[in-house]
Amino acid sequence: MVNAVILAAGEGKRMKSRKAKVVHKALGKEIVKWVADAARGAGAEKICVVVGHKEEQVRECLGESVEYAVQKEQKGTGHAVMMAEAFLEKNQGTVLVLCGDAPLIKEETLKKVIEEHKKKKNACTVISALIDCPDGYGRIVRDETGKFLSITEHKDCTAGQLKIKECNAGMYCFEVKDLLPALKKINCCNNQNEYYITDVPAVMSKEGLGVDTYILEDKDEMFGINDRVQLAEATEILRKRYVRKNMEAGVTFIKPDSCYVSPDAEIGEDTIIYPNCIIEGMTKIGPDCIIGPDSRISDAEIGRGTEINKSVIVESSIGNETKVGPFAYVRPGNRVGDHVKVGDFVELKKAEIGNGTKISHLTYIGDAQVGEDCNIACGVVTVNYDGSKKYLTKIGDNCFVGCNVNLVSPVEVESDSYIAAGSTITERVPSKALAIARARQVNKEGWVEKKGRYKRKK
Ligand code: UD1
Ligand code: CA
Repeated sequence: MVNAVILAAGEGKRMKSRKAKVVHKALGKEIVKWVADAARGAGAEKICVVVGHKEEQVRECLGESVEYAVQKEQKGTGHAVMMAEAFLEKNQGTVLVLCGDAPLIKEETLKKVIEEHKKKKNACTVISALIDCPDGYGRIVRDETGKFLSITEHKDCTAGQLKIKECNAGMYCFEVKDLLPALKKINCCNNQNEYYITDVPAVMSKEGLGVDTYILEDKDEMFGINDRVQLAEATEILRKRYVRKNMEAGVTFIKPDSCYVSPDAEIGEDTIIYPNCIIEGMTKIGPDCIIGPDSRISDAEIGRGTEINKSVIVESSIGNETKVGPFAYVRPGNRVGDHVKVGDFVELKKAEIGNGTKISHLTYIGDAQVGEDCNIACGVVTVNYDGSKKYLTKIGDNCFVGCNVNLVSPVEVESDSYIAAGSTITERVPSKALAIARARQVNKEGWVEKKGRYKRKK
């Protein structure tokens, strides 16, 4: 059985934030959630998060999906693991110990670490990396034969040890039965008066237990976040990873470095993403679509063969072979059908739009049900709000709503009817009728000359 302990009690002062460091988001997902997801993906059945600083925020972020241990005072990484003692007693076997502020570790890597750890029957496998400028990191110290001796913190290193390039990534795989007794043997006699988890492998090694390192191929995976600059750097690494993952799965990006794709987004084969697109949240986009340029799609579902051009789509579903934009704003709660056109400067909110309907320009449709094959002409407005309540507009199939029509809701326009341009509709329009609701035109012949207002000189 494999479990995980995630250390997330530290303060994170350098973020200069009212929020706990580990609940800041990288690529739309909280830092600590990246770590928990990687652990779970690698096979960790139970996860214990050690919380302390602003613990309520961390608990709110992860909820019931994990267990918690509280570290009241931050007396070091070793002390933090001690706080999870009850969890470890209860969940024997193998445990990953990870940092709550290092979100770039991949589940595939953790899987390999566990595999090697088990194959070599290690008591502890330290995840490490070879770093050219290892300032600040603990160094992996070995004897002449290359056998692991200790991890020595930067501040406690001798001049010779400072030259060591192999560094501690701050992540480990332990056998719980060896970890628990070793934790009792570490002290806080060091430069920072802290209990270091890094002293545990040295204790184990001295006792003849197997300790080894797993060297990361990709150093980025140990990257930890301490401030906003590093948060942006981590986000950039993750962004590149997910854009690449989508390219590998058959999505074309015209300018990959200008696009942002959520880790939870799914995009179909042969869809083309033009520059400057932001695809957020649980968005699902079908195959053969053209998305962008300059579009933001958030928690939306887009069918197959649909084109979204310079538009914003939020929490809505768009059907197949539909065209949206340029400059459309699809607000939350819409269901747009197949072969629909939502043209320029069209705003939709909580609207159902039937298959084949065209809403070509300059229109607001909110709180509405529009049937199939309708033509909603330029400048139509659903007047859905009376200043206190919102009401529904219903339009049947095959309707023609002329230019500049106001539909004062609640109101129903039955199928196969026409509404004349410029009408303000306040009552039901029966099926197959023409509704005209505007003052008749009056022409006063000769009025200009009679009033002496004729302006031409010759
Ligand atoms: C640690 C390692 C160092 C390694 C580096 C990699 C130790 C002593 N040193 O150093 O060898 O190279 O990580 O990034 O472990 N935390 C708690 N409670 C505490 C202290 C820390 O929960 O009392 C948590 C922090 O929130 C953080 C993690 O443990 O998520 C790491 O702590 P941090 O203080 O950043 O360790 P480093 O000094 O970076
Ligand atoms: Ca750190």
